[in-house]
Amino acid sequence: MKLVVAGATGRTGSEVVAEASRRGHDVEGVARSSDDVEDVRVYPADELPALLADADVLVDFTVPAASREHAALAAEAGVAYVVGTTGFDSGGTADLRAASESTAVLKASNFARGVQALLDVVAAGVEALPDYDVELTETHHSGKRDAPSGTARTVLDVVDEVRGEELDRTHGREGEHGREASEVGVHVRRAGTVRGEHEVLLAGNDEVLTLTHRAESRRVFAAGAVDAAEWLVGRDPGWYEFSEVL
Ligand SMILES: NC(=O)c1ccc[n+]([C@@H]2O[C@H](COP(=O)([O-])OP(=O)(O)OC[C@H]3O[C@@H](n4cnc5c(N)ncnc54)[C@H](OP(=O)(O)O)[C@@H]3O)[C@@H](O)[C@H]2O)c1
Repeated sequence: MKLVVAGATGRTGSEVVAEASRRGHDVEGVARSSDDVEDVRVYPADELPALLADADVLVDFTVPAASREHAALAAEAGVAYVVGTTGFDSGGTADLRAASESTAVLKASNFARGVQALLDVVAAGVEALPDYDVELTETHHSGKRDAPSGTARTVLDVVDEVRGEELDRTHGREGEHGREASEVGVHVRRAGTVRGEHEVLLAGNDEVLTLTHRAESRRVFAAGAVDAAEWLVGRDPGWYEFSEVL
């Protein structure tokens, strides 16, 4: 399978290059700058259309502005598209959806298998404890740009879905502020080299339940993204979820 990695020089993209190479795929990369990663050639981004001409799948870990363009190029080339970039606004999400009309698109805010399990467990916890307060804390390395993380947003969407209402996302607290039942607190920490940690706290009735996922290396995201790429190739145009891969 020929796999092109966008963001191949980045923290996550370089792990995708390494994982796909280990599995014996034919790998090429693009980034803003050209460089080599793990003996894989990385081309400047403007060469992506030419690379897609004979590719099976594009895996993208860059920034939203670049991913919007990459999605359109994958759609034009009819190449399956796996996107792990986070931080899209509604226009970016609409562009990805539009690409899925012409090619198979799989977007996940987190390619760790444990996070998929966390989403299920959070749904079960929120359902079992309907009156409990919910607070979410996420921690990532100091280089992460978007906040809260894409995974945190996905967890909050699950909470809203189970509660049947859009809770008021309260980002940090300062000063005089009584907690309302309609709030969900969202707390973001950026420090050091933390790969990614999400903790959901449910509290009420004199008890506390905490559910935590911690990524211990970026290899977990790379492995999930390559699993998704292998699964997506050959599928009809459309929108796919990582849970379907698992
Ligand atoms: N879904 C998941 O499981 C998951 C896991 C981890 C991270 N992420 C997300 O993946 C994204 C990347 O994270 P990261 O930590 O790997 O970032 P990073 O280390 O900053 O790497 C970004 C990569 O994108 C390239 N890039 C930036 N702007 C570009 C453009 N305009 N055109 C083409 N390439 C461009 C960079 O190339 P240069 O080096 O040449 O600038 C670099 O290779 C973020 O949105 C992050 O939240 C998702």
